[in-house]
Amino acid sequence: MFWSRNCVAVAACMAVCVVAQNTSLPGGPTFNDFLRFSCSELNIQRIDPLVTPGLTPSPHLHQFVGGNALSAKMDPSVDIAEQATCTTCTFSEDFSNYWTAVLFFRHRNGSYHRVPLMANLGLEKQRGGMTVYYTAPYDKKTKVTAFKPGFRMLIGDPSYRAPSPNTKEFRSIAFRCFTEPWGPAPANSEIGGEWDTRNFPNKPCPYGLRVNNFFPTCWDGVNVDSPDHKSHVAYPSKGTFETDGECPDTHPVRLPQVLYETIWNTSAFNDQSMWPVDGSQPFVFSMDDSTGYGWHGDYLFGWKGDSLQRAMDQYCGVNCPVLKTQSVEKANECAKAPIVNEKINGWLDALPGGESKAHR
Ligand SMILES: *[C@@H]1O[C@H](CO)[C@@H](O)[C@H](O)[C@H]1NC(C)=O
Ligand SMILES: *[C@@H]1O[C@H](CO)[C@@H](O)[C@H](O)[C@H]1NC(C)=O
Ligand SMILES: *[C@@H]1O[C@H](CO)[C@@H](O)[C@H](O)[C@H]1NC(C)=O
Repeated sequence: MFWSRNCVAVAACMAVCVVAQNTSLPGGPTFNDFLRFSCSELNIQRIDPLVTPGLTPSPHLHQFVGGNALSAKMDPSVDIAEQATCTTCTFSEDFSNYWTAVLFFRHRNGSYHRVPLMANLGLEKQRGGMTVYYTAPYDKKTKVTAFKPGFRMLIGDPSYRAPSPNTKEFRSIAFRCFTEPWGPAPANSEIGGEWDTRNFPNKPCPYGLRVNNFFPTCWDGVNVDSPDHKSHVAYPSKGTFETDGECPDTHPVRLPQVLYETIWNTSAFNDQSMWPVDGSQPFVFSMDDSTGYGWHGDYLFGWKGDSLQRAMDQYCGVNCPVLKTQSVEKANECAKAPIVNEKINGWLDALPGGESKAHR
């Protein structure tokens, strides 16, 4: 039952429908509506190529997936698809880099432990990392323009400790606390059920904790970057991507919808005798954010040639004959030694780059 095709489709729908926007798609999306694939861990280290290029170490820890052209300073004039020699993603023409913050558990005694990443449903063999989606318009008629070499963007802000003032951005990031494996199935497709939040849930998540990031889908058509790494892109001005909403005049070019799903196996930290004595929740992101509002994701386009455009023109689903693929075992072999080496595993006195709080 759990593994039946229907359930897989429902899980994919939950991934997409439940999140930010209120979709009203007849029947809801299935795995055939988007490229959905695993990108295993490339490395976990303190670099931040978009926000603090060249700074080693950067202020907080990130987990990276994708092509091995990753460096601390990603020059926008370089086509990383031409530089990389392997990728941790199963679509083997995708040398993009994708990264997010890292989750830690803070013990009531003040020590921190990194929370292991968990593979997604149907992608069980991936090694850490995340699930990446690219969606072409659900009407299967509207065209999107694939990103250009050097294109990059950022969603969220590591400094936020309260809801983003940009409500469209705010509604594009959602947490799910799994109280059953991948479920329970929502009664409807809207966020707001007891299992979905915009910040850290305040209860144990025995089957894991997921955060989704839906990137903006409208582009100014000119700039591959902007000073804040956000202003060259925008969310639809009317409706949503899911309802084929229009892009604003300032950002008229429709992009594929990029979605990250990052899932942590929190099960080693269910025991509430390790949780703070004041009853607060114990999880903290690597930028010392225990609210969850500072969650952010970074994207650096790196598909080879016109491969992503071809896939989007075909409204490709998980089986996409116009793309080359590699086995997950092959993808798992790609890795890159970190530039910044420091202890990130086991019990730590402080977050990497942070100060010990054990005795405050
Ligand atoms: C969500 O969409 C459905 C179908 O269009 C509509 O009936 C419902 O009122 C919407 N809910 C919200 C909160 O917008
Ligand atoms: C906190 O507890 C963990 C797990 O028992 C232990 O390994 C660690 O050393 C403790 N830290 C302190 C500061 O006592
Ligand atoms: C989650 O972690 C536990 C150990 O805490 C392990 O037994 C279990 O297999 C892990 N589950 C997955 C899906 O990785």
